Amino acid sequence: KRIVVLVSGDGSNLQALIDACQQGRINARLSAVFSNKASAYALERAQTAGIPAQSLSPSAFADREAFDLALAADIDAYQPDLLVLAGYMRILSPAFVKRYAGRMLNIHPSLLPKYPGLNTHQKAIDNQDSEHGTSVHFVTQELDGGPVILQAKVPVFDEDSAEDLSERVQTQEHNIYPLVVSWFVDGRLILRDDCAVLDGKVL
Ligand code: GRF
Repeated sequence: KRIVVLVSGDGSNLQALIDACQQGRINARLSAVFSNKASAYALERAQTAGIPAQSLSPSAFADREAFDLALAADIDAYQPDLLVLAGYMRILSPAFVKRYAGRMLNIHPSLLPKYPGLNTHQKAIDNQDSEHGTSVHFVTQELDGGPVILQAKVPVFDEDSAEDLSERVQTQEHNIYPLVVSWFVDGRLILRDDCAVLDGKVL
């Protein structure tokens, strides 16, 4: 199986996927990594691992649709079975989401449906939540709204900064994202009628 990963930033989740593939915990190859930011450290992680890595600059395109079309053409050259968003901080056009329906995953740093969108860690602190976490979900048209596959929870402590919390959440992300990806590539996880189905059971 072939996986393409989209990134925008540090790429710690990409690294977790690279490690899991190298260790045989994911039965697939990471075929390529694409970034919408040339400065993303994730690109270096990909290069170090010998994975083709490329950035596309949104400013070179007329609009979101044009950018996403060019990105999709580059992605499809690798004929991926799965597209993994790993800290990809760009809204996807409806056509892009449709093109990869049922084969695109995202990880979002909150216990969805709580806190879609940005600044989730600060929101959890501001609301004095006692727990926070992260969710892996299929990508559908609604931003951070697709069916949740797996979540991991972490405690929120009184003295936590958003950064403390982000670090605690990311440690969990690095465990659950490779796991969910392995389920997908092993054919155990599918999207059916807008529901995530694992081993034949609706989640
Ligand atoms: C992760 O916390 C992920 O949940 C969110 O963006 C962050 C990306 O971190 N979507 P990294 O680039 O994988 O280190």
